Amino acid sequence: MGKIYKGTIINPVDAHHAEVMHHGFIEVDDHGRIIDKGIRKMADRDEEPVIMPAFVDVHVHLPQFDVRGSYSGNQLLLWLKKYIWPEEAKCSDNAHVKDIAQRFYDDLIRHGTLTAGIYGTIHENAVKTMIEAMPIRGRVGKVVMDQQAPDSLSETTREAIEVTERLCEQYGDRHMVTPRFAPSCSFEVMRQLAEIAQRYNCYIQTHLSENDDEIALVKKLFPEYRHYTDVYKQAGLLGEKTIVGHVIHCHEEELTILKETGTQIAHCPTSNVALKSGTMPLDDIVRHHIPFALGTDVGAGPKTSMLDVMRAFLDVHDSVHATPTAALYYATKSGAQVLGYSDETGSLDIKKSADFLILKEYKQIDQSLDEYIRFLTHKSDYDTIVEKTYYKGKALF
Ligand code: GUN
Ligand code: FE
Repeated sequence: MGKIYKGTIINPVDAHHAEVMHHGFIEVDDHGRIIDKGIRKMADRDEEPVIMPAFVDVHVHLPQFDVRGSYSGNQLLLWLKKYIWPEEAKCSDNAHVKDIAQRFYDDLIRHGTLTAGIYGTIHENAVKTMIEAMPIRGRVGKVVMDQQAPDSLSETTREAIEVTERLCEQYGDRHMVTPRFAPSCSFEVMRQLAEIAQRYNCYIQTHLSENDDEIALVKKLFPEYRHYTDVYKQAGLLGEKTIVGHVIHCHEEELTILKETGTQIAHCPTSNVALKSGTMPLDDIVRHHIPFALGTDVGAGPKTSMLDVMRAFLDVHDSVHATPTAALYYATKSGAQVLGYSDETGSLDIKKSADFLILKEYKQIDQSLDEYIRFLTHKSDYDTIVEKTYYKGKALF
């Protein structure tokens, strides 16, 4: 017999449904797997903790942890120059990487995120440290920037390819192929990165169509392609194991290509508000059935809490698709799917890893799930709401 955890079980099913069991339980075996769940025969307490799956953050920049929330009115390209390039350049020093990685992972765990899709920097040793120090589930990418970068962050096409290949070889799919975005990459490097990803069968992450000036720059740098999405498509970067961040200003033809290639989207509403990038066209993306999940995009997003991202998702979209139940799904189960961990995590289902949270706030029996989630996103204190975090059945704090 395994260990039993009792409480109100909240378990996302899809964008429209979640299972809610008051006086419920999950049972976890010695290997940290969920082996049973259900409703207890006797209600032994009126007030009981909420048990829900741990969050999944599909798009977050570890090296930007200390500069999150720095903007002074800048949009993407100026913000990258002013705050991000100097901060990422610090990761040539591995003592800095060890320190920031530890604080970053601790902070994610405190806020209930136990699976993540992570951007590193251009530095090989930094990415190794980020992978080796990772106490949660996730994939980290060595960022590739072989053009339009400051001296402190530049690399040759050849270095970018060699380092990426070594990391794929050493870490398998714990490493993701990561062309930063088209402006930072030559067409040649993108083409070769796509080949490496194919050869090692690993994930690809990048940014797509976040900001008007960025899109104009892509047009200038790659005039022979139909649009931003076409640059990635012709390089061979799109596919079912590719996650593109943002997708705010894409038109129909681009969305059709994303759908046809099976490409998935990281939707980062707190970042999009902070950098005044615009609003992802949620209804169009749902209409095209393009898979997506939520990400903090720290440091453009100011907080590591996925509850804050769920709040922004609810606030920015005037759409029937932006319900609290949907926000929960996009912050958990859908994120696991996008990152390729749907057999492992994202929901409290039998055989999955016991990656779950105990929350401080009770859910009243007469409160609907949407009301309760809205309470979490709009009234609770994100820094203290997570009482306990279990990863593979073991308490992390
Ligand atoms: N586009 C290219 N690099 C970045 C980054 O670090 N953050 C965001 N938000 N967008 C990007
Ligand atoms: Fe990003």
